[in-house]
Amino acid sequence: MVRRGFFARATEILGAVIAGGLGVPALVYLLRPARTVAPGGYVDAVDLNQLKMRAPEEVSFQRIRKDGWKLITEKATAWVVKLSENEVVAYSPMCTHLGCAYHFEAAKNEFICPCHTTNFAIDGRVLNGPAPRPLDRYPVKVQGTRLLIGTIEPAKPAGEKKGA
Ligand code: FES
Repeated sequence: MVRRGFFARATEILGAVIAGGLGVPALVYLLRPARTVAPGGYVDAVDLNQLKMRAPEEVSFQRIRKDGWKLITEKATAWVVKLSENEVVAYSPMCTHLGCAYHFEAAKNEFICPCHTTNFAIDGRVLNGPAPRPLDRYPVKVQGTRLLIGTIEPAKPAGEKKGA
């Protein structure tokens, strides 16, 4: 009788330990708030000394994106143009018509989207084609000689002012 009681008690204790071992992490996972990422975070993209005046360069950089509870590191690209000594812009690599990738045609000094033939000037304006607005831009910051890139801000259709 004493031995049977001992095994029953030991089984209960072992069950409680297993339930605690599985249950506590499950509760922490379910109740913990999602990690937060500072919105509009800037990432280091390129050394400004590598850019030639008014010669677009496609640059790659790493960005951390939040997807629910997960933080995903992904590669992103931007077309960066030094328009003057004091102005550097970074464009989204997607055409504002239907999102195709465009390229820079040095001979014409224009960005060309081959999907439906939209041409963009190096300042992002639509020169011709079906794209409804200029190239979308990343906000940028300069830190020393480094260019930092934020998250894409959609451009306003031609004629609309920013912030309208
Ligand atoms: S997606 Fe670029 S012109 Fe249509």
